[in-house]
Amino acid sequence: PVPERVADLLARMTVPEKVGQMLQLDARGDYEGDILRKHVGSILHTSPSRLKLAHDLVEQTRLRIPLLVGEDCIHGHSFFEGATIFPTQLGMASSWDPDLIEQAARVTAVEAAATGVHWTFSPVLCIARDLRWGRVDETFGEDPYLIGELASAMVRGYQGSGLADPTAILATAKHFAGYSETQGGRDASEADISRRKLRSWFLPPFERVAKEGCATFMLGYQSMDGVPITINDWLLNDVLRGEWGYTGTLITDWDNVGRMVWEQKIQPDHAHAAAAAVRAGNDMVMTTPQFFEGAQEAIEAGLLAEADLDRAVARILTLKFELGLFEDPRRPDAERATSLIGSAAHAAVNLDLARRSLVLLRNVDGTLPMAGAVDLPRRIAVVGPLADAAQAQLGDWAGSSGQADWLPDGHPRDMITTVLDGLRELTPQDWTVTSALGAEILSLVTPPEGETFPDGQPRPKVVVPRDPDEALIAQAVAQARDADYVVAVVGDQVELVGEGRSTATLELVGGQVALLDALAETGTPLVVVVMASKPLVLPQSALDAAAVVWTANPGMEGGRAIAELLLGQIEPSGRLPISFARHVGQQPIYYNQLRGQHGDRYADLTQEPAFVFGEGLSYTTVEYSGLELRSAELGQDDTIHARVTLTNTGARPARETVQVYVSDTVTSVSWTDKELKGYRQVDVAPGESVVVDLDLPVADCTIVDQAGNRVVEPGGFELLVGSSSRDADLLRAPFSVTGS
Ligand code: IFM
Repeated sequence: PVPERVADLLARMTVPEKVGQMLQLDARGDYEGDILRKHVGSILHTSPSRLKLAHDLVEQTRLRIPLLVGEDCIHGHSFFEGATIFPTQLGMASSWDPDLIEQAARVTAVEAAATGVHWTFSPVLCIARDLRWGRVDETFGEDPYLIGELASAMVRGYQGSGLADPTAILATAKHFAGYSETQGGRDASEADISRRKLRSWFLPPFERVAKEGCATFMLGYQSMDGVPITINDWLLNDVLRGEWGYTGTLITDWDNVGRMVWEQKIQPDHAHAAAAAVRAGNDMVMTTPQFFEGAQEAIEAGLLAEADLDRAVARILTLKFELGLFEDPRRPDAERATSLIGSAAHAAVNLDLARRSLVLLRNVDGTLPMAGAVDLPRRIAVVGPLADAAQAQLGDWAGSSGQADWLPDGHPRDMITTVLDGLRELTPQDWTVTSALGAEILSLVTPPEGETFPDGQPRPKVVVPRDPDEALIAQAVAQARDADYVVAVVGDQVELVGEGRSTATLELVGGQVALLDALAETGTPLVVVVMASKPLVLPQSALDAAAVVWTANPGMEGGRAIAELLLGQIEPSGRLPISFARHVGQQPIYYNQLRGQHGDRYADLTQEPAFVFGEGLSYTTVEYSGLELRSAELGQDDTIHARVTLTNTGARPARETVQVYVSDTVTSVSWTDKELKGYRQVDVAPGESVVVDLDLPVADCTIVDQAGNRVVEPGGFELLVGSSSRDADLLRAPFSVTGS
C-alpha cells in the first residue's frame, strides 16, 4: 500500500513531474534545465558547488520535492578529496571479516552523508569467474556464500540503524544479475547463462541482501538470452519481486534505457524504450535524458499507462520520505565533513581492514618476517613500479583514477602510506632502506587525432612498453645485490582496470617479469608483493620466490599494513577469496566447478591453479585434528553439529579461518564437488589447542535440481573442514540425510 503522504503528493503531480522523478542525471548537464524543466528526482556524480546549486534550484520548483543524491562510494567516498579510501572490495574480501567490512561501510556512510550524498551504488555482488574482466577488483571474489556474507555486512554498514538515521545512506546491490559472466572477459558482453545456473550461483547472494533489507538494486548492462536485464520480466518480476517479495527500488545502470535504442537496437525509439523499461518495473532511470520526452510520448501513444509511472514514482517518493528528506534534504554539512572526513578514527578502521586483508601465499624457511632473522642492522631494497605508487595503491574508484576523468579530485599524497613510506617509517633506525623503480607498467600518450572525453579534453592512450627498460632493471639489481632482502612490489595500475577496461592477458606487464627474473638471479631473498586489481599470472621467478604476499589494492593505509606484516609487527591472516591462474588460458579457474569437468584437461598445461580459493599462510602452523559429528544421520530439519581441534604448533599467534565445505556424494544433476557453507575465524595462541564447534543446518546442503528448485537430496554427504579449498587441507566426515 502507498503511504498516505506519498499518495497525496502523487495525486498533485503532473505527468512531466512524475517522469522527472524517475530520472537520475549526472553533473555534466545543465542543472537549470534538468531541475526546473525536467523535474529530475535524482542526481549523481556531483561536486559540492554543483550540489548547492541543485538544492537551491529545487526550492524554485512547484512541489519542492527533494533530490536524491547518488554517488559511487565503492571502497570509501571514492571521488571526495581526502575521504578515507579502503582496500577494494576484493581486498576487503581477503579478510573474510564481516565485522570489519561493516565498520568500513559505516565509515563510508558517515563521510558520504556529511557531504550530502544519500545513496551509494555499492556493494557489488557479481561473481568473479573470468579474471580478464576489468571489474574483478570490485567483487568479493568467486564464492556465492562469501559474497552474500560480506555484501550483507556492507549493506548493514551503509544503512546503519535505519534510513531515518541521518548518517545512513541507501545501499545498492549490483549488478543484478549475471553481469560478470562475460564472453572472453569483455565487460558488459552478453551473459550466456541459463536460469538454472543463475539460481545455482549468481542469484543466492542477491537473495540474501534482498532479505537483509538492501534498499535498492541496480540492473546490469548486459542481455541474457537476448533480453537486456533492464526489461527482463522473469528476473525482475517473477524472481525478485515475486519469489523474493522484494519491495525496494530498482535503478538501471548508466544509460541502460537509451542503450536499448542505440546499442542493443531492440527498441525503435525512446518512447518504446521508456515504455518497456517502466513496464518491466524500473523505478529510476540513470542518465538517459531522452527518457523525459520518451516516457511522455509513450503515454500519449498509449504504450504506457500513467498507473505504471505511479508505481515507480511512489517507490521513489517513499524512499525520500523514509530518508526524511522532506523535513531535511540532508544538504552537505561542511563543519561535519571537515571534522569527519579522513579522520584519525576512520584511518584506524582502514588500517585494521588493510592488515586483515593481506594474504601470505609463500614463505620459504621463514623468510618473513624480516625482523625475525638476526639481530643485526639490515639492508632492504624496496623496488618495483608500485613500491611508492600512492594513487595506484588505491585502485579504481578512487578520485584520480580513470573513472573520475571529469571529476579531478584526487586524494592528498600525505594521506597515503606507500610500502616504501611504511618500511622507512617502521624499520629500526640502523636499518637501511633503498629504493628503485625497476620497471614502468605503462605510459600515457595523447595522439593528436585521438579520442576525447565528454568535456572535449583529449583522452590519453595507454601504451604498455614492449621491451623491459634494462637501465631501470640494472639499478634495482644493484640495490638487491647489496641488500639482505629485496622487496619487489609489482602488479597493475588503474589504466588497466575498470569498466570497459578488461585485459586480454593476465601477465605482469611493462618489464616487470624481466625485473623479477633479474632480482631472483641475485640470490638475495626475494619478497614479492603483488599489488593488483585482480589475481595476475605470476612468472616462475615469483612463484619460486622466498616469499609472496597478495595485497589487492590495499587502500590508503595499505603500505603501512604491508610494512607491519613484512616486519612481523602483525600476523598474516588473510585468505584468498578467489583462485589465481598459472596462465591466462586457464580461464575460468574458480574452485567450485562442476564435477566431471575438473582435473587436467589441457594437453599442454595443468588445470591446477597457482593458488586456490581459501589459501593463506600464517607465521605459525595450525594443525587440524579430530573432526567429528555429534550425529551422522540427520533429517531435513536437523542441524549438523561438528567439532574440530586446532593446535598452534608454532611460536607465533594465529588467526585461523576455519572453512566448512559440503560435498553431496551423488546428485541428480551435475554439481560441484564442494561448496563453502560457513566459516569461523578463531585466534589460537602459540602451543594452544582450541576446540571449535561448527553448526550447519541441513537445509543449507542444497543443490538446484533440473527443474530449478533448491532441494536437499536425501543420501550421502561429506562435511569438509580445513584451512583452504584444497583437498589436502581438508578433514572429511561423512553423514547422511533422510526424508524428502
Ligand atoms: O554504479 C556504476 C556502475 O557500477 C557502472 N556504471 C556506472 C554506474 C554509475 O557510475
